[in-house]
Amino acid sequence: MTSMLVAMISQPGPPEVLRWVSRDRPEPGPGEVLLRVRAFGINRPDVLQRKGLYPPPPGASDIPGLEVCGEVLSGDLRGATLRPGQRVCALLTGGGYAEYCVAPVGQCLPVPEILSDAEAAALPETFFTVWHNVFERGALKAGELLLVQGGTSGIGTTAIQLAHALGATVWATAGSDMKCQACLDLGAVRAINYRTQDFAEQVREHTKGRGVDVLLDMVAGDYVARELGCMAEDGRLVIIAVQGGTAAGFDASLLMRRRLTITGSTLRARSVAFKSGVALALRDKVWPLMEAGRVRPRLHAVLPAEQVAQAHALMETGQHIGKIVLTWP
Ligand SMILES: NC(=O)c1ccc[n+]([C@@H]2O[C@H](COP(=O)([O-])OP(=O)(O)OC[C@H]3O[C@@H](n4cnc5c(N)ncnc54)[C@H](OP(=O)(O)O)[C@@H]3O)[C@@H](O)[C@H]2O)c1
Repeated sequence: MTSMLVAMISQPGPPEVLRWVSRDRPEPGPGEVLLRVRAFGINRPDVLQRKGLYPPPPGASDIPGLEVCGEVLSGDLRGATLRPGQRVCALLTGGGYAEYCVAPVGQCLPVPEILSDAEAAALPETFFTVWHNVFERGALKAGELLLVQGGTSGIGTTAIQLAHALGATVWATAGSDMKCQACLDLGAVRAINYRTQDFAEQVREHTKGRGVDVLLDMVAGDYVARELGCMAEDGRLVIIAVQGGTAAGFDASLLMRRRLTITGSTLRARSVAFKSGVALALRDKVWPLMEAGRVRPRLHAVLPAEQVAQAHALMETGQHIGKIVLTWP
């Protein structure tokens, strides 16, 4: 069996616990392909996994890494549209911090020609997450108003661009004036510095009390009550992370009076069939926008693969705007 380099979490801890070691190359099973990884993306859930706070779901690789751009080498290509040598981006449940990885065929998407390997590696985790949560669960429609918390996160930069390109009006929050400007540059029409302004008051004031139709939240905790207080009638609050805590007290009568929906999801543990369905929707609805240059992943930094610990440290500074990606030579 041929070996490969992988970045392992040697023990829970700071970025330095990520160590490059040699491992056997994985073998693709039924419905899977082997990819030679060209670039892989870093996501906040990887940081949580490294700290021991987000264990891989049952059956997932213990190697971190939820998304790659790679070249199809071999595997179960019966009936698939993939061919050997093709450049794809793939959503993984783990195993992306490596020279090679296996991916379910249905979770691979062809890379639009105009994107670099690094840009392609930045796509899967945020595009699958945003598509499902904002457009499927949140049912955002053209003409509606979306508020994105954390507008300059990997998730936020994708949500702003996609919603704007699909005809919604987007507002965003961010933790500095510079980040607010970045949200505006990406297509938001209003950006609220959540450290200096109360986002809920801002929404009520600037919508004349109407509120937002869909709100993408990655904070939860005491944000939930404030968010419900600035939702439009029939509004949908979608929670995808609990950075501010899991406990959330709120006025439950608002749900009745304004007919609000609270929903949310996590992507990683969902089935291959589910993720393959999201991939089809992305191919159909979003890839044409990418091919036309109307949506493009926003990269903060592209580093050589060996700097994986530095990439985690960079994410933890919280200074990034968009995605951090590592590339193989
Ligand atoms: N449910 C799912 O399926 C799923 C999938 C992927 C990611 N996620 C979650 O989505 C979040 C974003 O992921 P990422 O990889 O894009 O991470 P990231 O780039 O590190 O983003 C974290 C963001 O959280 C924002 N934030 C923190 N506290 C905030 C507050 N009080 N108010 C508003 N914004 C606040 C930060 O804003 P500032 O930097 O401006 O302070 C930053 O933009 C993470 O929490 C991640 O775990 C969930």
